[in-house]
Amino acid sequence: MTDIVLLPGDGIGPEIVSAVRKILDAAGADLIYHVYDVGQTAYEKCGELIPAETFDAIKKYKIALKGPVTTPVGKGFRSVNVSLRLAFDLYANLRPAYSFENVSPFRNVDLITVRENTEDLYIGEERRIEGGFEAVKRITENATDRIINYAFSYAAAHGRKKVTCVHKANILKKTDGLFLSIFREIAAKYPEIAADDKIVDNMCMQLVTRPEDYDVIVAPNLYGDIISDLIAGLVGGLGLVAGANLGKDVAVFEAVHGSAPDIAGKGIANPVALLEAAVMMLEHIGKEETARKIKAATVKTLARGVSLTKDLGGGATTDEFTEEVIKNL
Ligand code: NAI
Repeated sequence: MTDIVLLPGDGIGPEIVSAVRKILDAAGADLIYHVYDVGQTAYEKCGELIPAETFDAIKKYKIALKGPVTTPVGKGFRSVNVSLRLAFDLYANLRPAYSFENVSPFRNVDLITVRENTEDLYIGEERRIEGGFEAVKRITENATDRIINYAFSYAAAHGRKKVTCVHKANILKKTDGLFLSIFREIAAKYPEIAADDKIVDNMCMQLVTRPEDYDVIVAPNLYGDIISDLIAGLVGGLGLVAGANLGKDVAVFEAVHGSAPDIAGKGIANPVALLEAAVMMLEHIGKEETARKIKAATVKTLARGVSLTKDLGGGATTDEFTEEVIKNL
């Protein structure tokens, strides 16, 4: 039995967390769930977005599976996700995306985005200036060194052939310039792995025309966020792609998508992204066999196309899809 912290979040969070938990149990994942509130739900109950007991549980058990949480746009509190990443120094955000038979518009995608998770514009330092506001984009040697080393060691450990650095160093000569120069230094230490770099706007165009040319992508926080959502679109949408937030001690696994307020409470959310996150979590804690079983059942369910959710063109509910995955385990 392995202890994990389960954070249902809000919006569609509780619906997809419950679906994923059913599948994990049916697959015999053998987990002990410690369920805690985070975000809006926590705020309504105790006036805090990350209550001390949630924080302590993550610190104690070190592994969390997290549903999405809402962050108000343009006002209100800082993102809970950003706060968790900073609090536990979850410096690497790993977002694998690959094509699924029958549902992915692009058939040949197999990409890993490694997104720097602690700095760039996400430090949230905005200030008033005459006539408007400005925001600080922070890129430091330490954080860049750490994420680029992570990307290359990940590529080496997983037999990946190429790492591409995404940047805008033509305009941001100091910040992105630093990111790119550290990338080139570290790339030289891995002669067996091809290395190239692309300006972010060009990278978007390349990805929607020739995604098969890319393998591992490393990027500062903002470009990594945007590019990984774009890649989600290549494989069938946000409902299919997961991410791992990895630090030295703690790891938080989640879907790439948000709380989807437009469909929350309707029972039609696609649980695959969070299920993929659970698969990454199982691999991380050494339960590879269960991970493989769930992944195979997911691939089979999507390929058969019998009980697909609305985002994938079907008419099934979250529960019907979940039952289908369980049948295919
Ligand atoms: P979103 O990802 O929640 O939704 C975008 C679109 O994709 C919506 O039409 C939604 O219905 C659809 N969608 C997303 N996940 C789906 C799923 N599993 N099944 C079916 N359809 C799905 O992005 P949006 O609307 O920009 O953000 C909503 C809230 O989520 C915001 O407060 C945002 O800050 C937050 N957010 C939270 C994240 C997290 O907790 N990790 C990540 C991204 C956004």
